[in-house]
Amino acid sequence: MLLDQEAEKASADKADGFTDVFAKCGTDGGYFGKMRAMGDDDYTRPTLPPNPDRKMEFKGREHIMWSINNYLGLANHPEVIEVGHRALDEFGVSSPMGSRMMSGNSAYHQEFERELADFTGKEAAFLFNYGYMGVQGTIQSLLGKDDIMVMDKLSHACIVDGAFLAQSMNGAQLRVFKHNNMDNLEQVLKRINRDRKGGVLIMTEGVYGMTGDLATLKEITDLARKYDARLYIDDAHGWGTMGSQGRGTADHFGVQDEVDIYFGTFAKSFASIGGFSASTKSVTEWITYNARTQVFAKSLPMVYVQTLRKTFDLVKNGDDRRDRMWKISNSLKNGLRDLGFYVGPGEAPICSVFVPLGEHSMEHVGARTAGFLRQNGVFVTAIAYPVIPLGLLMFRMIPTAAHTEEDVAETLRVFREMRDKLGLRLTMTEDEDKKIRKVYGV
Ligand SMILES: Cc1ncc(COP(=O)(O)O)c(C=O)c1O
Repeated sequence: MLLDQEAEKASADKADGFTDVFAKCGTDGGYFGKMRAMGDDDYTRPTLPPNPDRKMEFKGREHIMWSINNYLGLANHPEVIEVGHRALDEFGVSSPMGSRMMSGNSAYHQEFERELADFTGKEAAFLFNYGYMGVQGTIQSLLGKDDIMVMDKLSHACIVDGAFLAQSMNGAQLRVFKHNNMDNLEQVLKRINRDRKGGVLIMTEGVYGMTGDLATLKEITDLARKYDARLYIDDAHGWGTMGSQGRGTADHFGVQDEVDIYFGTFAKSFASIGGFSASTKSVTEWITYNARTQVFAKSLPMVYVQTLRKTFDLVKNGDDRRDRMWKISNSLKNGLRDLGFYVGPGEAPICSVFVPLGEHSMEHVGARTAGFLRQNGVFVTAIAYPVIPLGLLMFRMIPTAAHTEEDVAETLRVFREMRDKLGLRLTMTEDEDKKIRKVYGV
């Protein structure tokens, strides 16, 4: 569909025998193009108040917010803000200037890296300006010609982009295994080892952020060892929430020592920005000197380094917060199951609620259900194909330590009303159930 005169110009260009690079911009193509064409500001790019909290005002009414990764409720923590004020007074907003490689290194960055390495049980750690960039740069820096990346099919976009970069820049090869399917992973590794020339890196998430299921890390580490492969875990959603003191998903399974490179972001349970990888000294140094996204980009600003170190204390000493998060997560999941909703079997706090589309379109069911929740003060994110299989809609909810049992009760009341007023079919057909189980690799 053409949206404006840009598109007319594009047609005119075509008549001249070429297509303008901007031609598509005047159409409803691209990611979320249909929503953009509809002028949607409910589900894509909703305008929210700048202070993330368990309740937020949206379109003139208060909503219980289930869409932000503030797992431990640390967003806007007064002690972190206090440290931020002091850091601003001391360092201003521009510090440090430049990339770590050139003029953006500091003793504060290095000290924080030592703390992260100690805590994750690795020899060294490297701080990234952005989690996404860190993952991409790590993969690009390590995988060269003759090397093979073995990636879980449902890996996050930053792992995929890192793999593409390593392929196109370095000539590394990519193989994909079925989500959390250990038979398939073993088949892939076995086939690779028949005529392998270089190294192999298995790449998975720790907690899958969309659905909340855990990578089967015990089995994956066994296979990595058996087939002489290295293992890289992007634990964006497990870091801070899982394992002892929030050490992450590998610690939860007791296999942190078997993970060759551990990645955590600060954008979720730390409610901030940035990330890190931890590994041996030589691997970490290699990443430091070779990850293009870090060598050629400004380093993590000092205000974040300082506030993150405070947040790190709160996370490490935050068992009470993790307990509250789990309580809220269990109440929400159990309550929704009691109402008849299909809640995914993910073991992380994330609560994924599946609704079958039946003979209706995603837009129809999505607008009715998500619209109902929004009109009744419950803010959730609706996820559809291609993130989940065709024929299903999923509400992804993030329970946090900041939520209260009253928030859960009110949310369950609204879900019950939605179920009854919209006459939703909640029981899955055999085929729908199979599709969901495939998402979870069970
Ligand atoms: C699994 C996973 N990895 C990496 C990232 C990127 O992290 P950041 O937001 O810190 O750039 C995300 C963020 O959504 C994620 O979910």
